[in-house]
Amino acid sequence: MVVVSSPAKIILFGEHAVVYGTPAIAMAIERRIFVKAETLSEKKLVVLTGRKKVSFPLHILTPEGEFRYVKKAVAISLENTGYSSGIKLEINSEIPRASGLGSSAAVSVAVLKAVHELYDVELSPEELAKLGHRVEREVQGAASPTDTATSALGGVLLIKPGAGIERIELNRDIPLVVGCTGIKRSTGKVVAGVRELRDRHPEIIDGVMECIGRLVLKAKCALESGDLKTLGELMDINQGLLEALGVSNLALARRIYSARKAGALGAKLTGAGAGGCMIALAPEHQEKVKKVLGKNSFITTTARAGTKVESLE
Ligand code: MEV
Repeated sequence: MVVVSSPAKIILFGEHAVVYGTPAIAMAIERRIFVKAETLSEKKLVVLTGRKKVSFPLHILTPEGEFRYVKKAVAISLENTGYSSGIKLEINSEIPRASGLGSSAAVSVAVLKAVHELYDVELSPEELAKLGHRVEREVQGAASPTDTATSALGGVLLIKPGAGIERIELNRDIPLVVGCTGIKRSTGKVVAGVRELRDRHPEIIDGVMECIGRLVLKAKCALESGDLKTLGELMDINQGLLEALGVSNLALARRIYSARKAGALGAKLTGAGAGGCMIALAPEHQEKVKKVLGKNSFITTTARAGTKVESLE
């Protein structure tokens, strides 16, 4: 039996502009998904969550329908390890689903790691990130490597389109309050909306993207030196630029302004926008900020560890 956990992620800076080639900064946060894996004598995959218990034949783990990320991660693990015994997975998650916090990436890498551990097959964090990206690609058709890399590797990462991923060495952990609007939206649709805006006003929107790119490089320096005041300022500027791209909305803006008023050093939406979640940088006044953000909010910080083995028997 093995228990593995993987963290959720947020985008600290640079969402949307990253689609046009500028770097972005992603951070793993201390909200985890836990996967307990055990072998079974019968050739089937049994998935247990707080809500239900579902069983699938091992030879047809199609990446469709419910638990498609889990099924694909198990299929790739069996292929990679050469084992084919039955598996029981018990999944418990602290990560809100469909909110842009990377829950499908986290479950994918946690299942991959758990099944490899179960069969005692070594998997480095980098290999895990690659396999996790493959799971997301094969389930979704296309996927950015950001979520799976952040959940596998942990900490804070600089995502450089076409040039890989670099770890940012933090001077101190980043204290955040996350507020979720509960509004679900499709990332693809929001990204398409930005593309249409750019098609209409390329001479303006290209400038916004460049500006976000410069801001990301300044934010990297502020993270390395632990300068939270500058980070907060840069978050507010990034939010203004995301407003210019048309991806914020009233539910996000209300929370962002309330968090700033309650004492946050800076606040912005995180991820695709048009719903989903926002983040507030709050080294102090955390409870006050959480209160103004309402019931779907939580206090969190950098998850230095990515996917990790919690226990092994
Ligand atoms: C979504 O989490 C981040 C976007 O930049 C899209 C992407 O990078 O794939 C909006």
